[in-house]
Amino acid sequence: MIEDIRRCTDEARERVAGAQTVDSVRAVESDALGKRGTLSGFKKRLGTLSEAERREVGRELNDAMAAVRAAVEARRAELEAGERRARLRGERVDLTEVRPGRDAGHLHLVTQVIEELEDVFVGLGFTVAEGPEVEDDWHNFTALNFGEHHPAREMQDTFFVGLGSPREVVMRTHTSPVQIRVMEQQAPPIYSVMPGRVYRNEATDATHLAVFHQLECLVVDRGITFGHLAGTIDMFTKAFFGAGFSSRLRPSYFPFTEPSAEFDIQRPDGSWLELGGSGMVHPNVLRNCGIDPEEWSGFAFGFGLDRLAATRHGVGDLRELASTDIRFLEQF
Ligand code: PHE
Repeated sequence: MIEDIRRCTDEARERVAGAQTVDSVRAVESDALGKRGTLSGFKKRLGTLSEAERREVGRELNDAMAAVRAAVEARRAELEAGERRARLRGERVDLTEVRPGRDAGHLHLVTQVIEELEDVFVGLGFTVAEGPEVEDDWHNFTALNFGEHHPAREMQDTFFVGLGSPREVVMRTHTSPVQIRVMEQQAPPIYSVMPGRVYRNEATDATHLAVFHQLECLVVDRGITFGHLAGTIDMFTKAFFGAGFSSRLRPSYFPFTEPSAEFDIQRPDGSWLELGGSGMVHPNVLRNCGIDPEEWSGFAFGFGLDRLAATRHGVGDLRELASTDIRFLEQF
């Protein structure tokens, strides 16, 4: 009987080794070890043997069944890993694949405007800088010469990050803190533009967003005058909007510029669009960044991009710009 057991065992192990699928491994398993399996069959016949023989054959049979079971498990694991690899290979999706005839998507309208403006300013010799959207009080307010009790620090304008008091961390309310970061990191001369997302604690409606975009421009060099400010605004207006557009400045107030001015753009039909704020960088701001105002002077301006993009493309409701409605987005 021992001869027979060994023959069956060898045969089962050979079939396991040659099995090419998990299913054929399972077939060998049931043929050898299943209820009606060849090896299981010997168990029933043990009862016909003498006690001494039964002990010897029984041990042989147990070893044989354990060996076949181990071979089955090892081969099954091998084949399962191979099948898994093949399935993953088959299911792989190439997310960079360009599918001809299908719209591959495009940049958002506001992103397009940012890139266009960057091109205009890079063409004028400016660099592009960025800063964090979560700012500290120093960069968003204090270094920009906001007095301790300036109303813009109050709750109605600013989203504070809930880190307890004092309320030192804010969602930046404008891109002007990037001016501070640039001046802290770099000695003049500075010619930079700084686009980015900004946050105001305001109710949203067709003409106001709580999350919107600005572009800031900063120049610091020797002998910079208000004439350079007016000239740069006019050059960028014509380069971005076209030759038929012009600009004007109106006196205004910002804590970080002195003198300060609002600037408007005149469309070819004669109508005006209020665009943003501007002015000569306040000496306190230069000093806060370690720049000597006796040696250097500068100008800065900043304006909202969402309203500009909306006006240019006839979008009546600014909230559309923040929507994910593909029928709206597809138009641009
Ligand atoms: N930061 C100002 C605002 O958000 C705009 C501004 C920028 C004014 C630069 C002057 C100089 O309204």
